[in-house]
Amino acid sequence: MRRQGFTVWFTGLPSSGKTTLSRLLHKELDELGLAAEVLDGDEVRQRLTKGLGFTKEGRDENIRRIAYVAKLLTRVGGIAITAAISPYRELRDLARAEIGSFVEVHVNCPLQVCMQRDVKGLYAKALKGEIPNFTGISDPYEPPLNPEVTLYTDRESPEESIKKILVKLVDLNCLPSHLISRRLKENDATCEPEQNAAPRNVERWSI
Ligand code: ADX
Repeated sequence: MRRQGFTVWFTGLPSSGKTTLSRLLHKELDELGLAAEVLDGDEVRQRLTKGLGFTKEGRDENIRRIAYVAKLLTRVGGIAITAAISPYRELRDLARAEIGSFVEVHVNCPLQVCMQRDVKGLYAKALKGEIPNFTGISDPYEPPLNPEVTLYTDRESPEESIKKILVKLVDLNCLPSHLISRRLKENDATCEPEQNAAPRNVERWSI
């Protein structure tokens, strides 16, 4: 009678919208009666990965630890939502392989827009040379090649983005459709489930 867990793995540039969307998804799932945990890069770096820096080695270790916790939550039927830049494709792919039920969500927002938003004022500092290895400025970001979901946060509302994720989760059999039917009814055409989409790496919901 236990449902299959899964991980929703947000990835994207600083200020692309990962934290906002992960919180909104958490709230949405909570309202549907589904318990989830958010592992946000900024928060995790205060605790689980405190002291790790932003070299490639530091970031890789950060992602390994986040993936490990997400795996544990997923394994017991929970829902893990991660929101770290996770700039390296190889590490995201390792997380996918380790976790299994893995839904990669690319928060795709043009660098120029992220720089204009500059939620924490860090792009400005990085441009002045005050923050070394800053993603998008002086450090790489490797976009996913085949994410389950791509969100365009420069032209979609957060609500539209969340609906796209929920539709994909149903599409992948991570969530039963009846659970989100009310939400789907509110959807516009762009949020309809893909026809004949094959579930990838995600086990069926079992009840
Ligand atoms: S990751 O690359 O290891 O996935 P993570 O998401 O945990 O990064 O942390 C990113 C956050 O750390 C940013 O939102 C920002 O607030 C802060 N930060 C501090 N230094 C950097 C840097 N050099 N590059 C990117 N983010 C940084």
